[in-house]
Amino acid sequence: MRVVNIVGARPNFMKMAPLMREMRRHSTIAATLVHTGQHYDDAMAGQFFRDLDLPQPDISLEVGSGSHAHQTAEVMKRLEPVLTEIRPHVVVVVGDVNSTLAGTITAVKLGIPVAHVEAGLRSFDRSMPEEINRLLTDAISEFLFVTEESGRENLLREGVDSRKIHMVGNVMIDSLEQCRPLWERSDAAARLGLQRGGYGVVTLHRPSNVDDPAMLRGLVKALAEVGRRLPLVFPVHPRTRARLEAMEADAESLVRGGAHFIAPLGYLDFVGLVAGARLVLTDSGGLQEETTSLGVPCLTLREQTERPITVTQGTNRIVGTSPERIVTEAVRVLTEPSSSMSRPPLWDGRAAERIVAVLRDAWPVGVATARLD
Ligand code: UD1
Repeated sequence: MRVVNIVGARPNFMKMAPLMREMRRHSTIAATLVHTGQHYDDAMAGQFFRDLDLPQPDISLEVGSGSHAHQTAEVMKRLEPVLTEIRPHVVVVVGDVNSTLAGTITAVKLGIPVAHVEAGLRSFDRSMPEEINRLLTDAISEFLFVTEESGRENLLREGVDSRKIHMVGNVMIDSLEQCRPLWERSDAAARLGLQRGGYGVVTLHRPSNVDDPAMLRGLVKALAEVGRRLPLVFPVHPRTRARLEAMEADAESLVRGGAHFIAPLGYLDFVGLVAGARLVLTDSGGLQEETTSLGVPCLTLREQTERPITVTQGTNRIVGTSPERIVTEAVRVLTEPSSSMSRPPLWDGRAAERIVAVLRDAWPVGVATARLD
């Protein structure tokens, strides 16, 4: 079975690493890794390949940054000849970034079935670029691998045939578990002079939070207030760095308030830092899942989540973007005894195994050749 696996941006790499590892265990699978180059800096991509032991891409499309249409179109243009040449039996895409959607449209238009890993998640906010990527990718994919029950419900509500939906767990947690011995050894907190349980971690990069100066100013004010009670570490995404530099004076108040601005971290240092944190404040999607799995309290600075299980079973609270509410909720976490949580079903480190088993069942050796070659 020929499989083309597509990655593009930082949150794709930890989802793909366990899938590549699992596929390479089977001699009947020829897995090709394509990196679109949506993220290209060493800090956003290269370091993740090394940390996750992800093989170097077989093919790099080097599309780089650009507007949504530009980036999506470039991936499609450069990927089409690759898929035409390899003629894979299936293309595997992960997550909800522009490369996910571009890979899906290109493959489906060539008549190649697509498997979407992390299907069915919905924020119901169509102003989020990722929501559009999720809706469109799911609408035309053949295999929909879901991480939580809400994913199945959303897809069924959208009229998807239930036979396409497979509840398999969460590949992001596969990486978290497979790399545990490595991130447990990370000294990222010690390098910053911080004690386990004695600091918070902040990440912000959603356009809705960082592209509007008034919004970003309010968030910075809230973080400065929280920083007076708990030192904060803020690995700054390139998009956010540019916006913060444009509002220098406000960002300085955050530093005075006790925040360490640092460059984006690699996977192992970042997970190591989060695992030792007292609190995480974020607008990331994946981090809501990682904190739930690690049992670290998480405040999500958005109005909604596409990952509701992290709230109902995990450590996540959706607190919105009002500075007063963020401070109140942070103080509550710091003063309350930690609440109990349970790990969501099938978030056990074996999702990639289940996904590859479904794909192998769909293309038993021999049949694949007869059907598609
Ligand atoms: C993208 C994804 C988002 C994901 C995020 C994780 C989409 C629509 N968005 O958003 O879902 O949560 O990645 O980081 O696919 N840049 C660099 N170096 C890089 C890459 C980007 O400096 O390696 C800078 C560029 O100035 C670029 C900006 O960051 O314009 C934003 O990058 P882009 O890929 O457009 O979107 P993200 O905000 O990273």
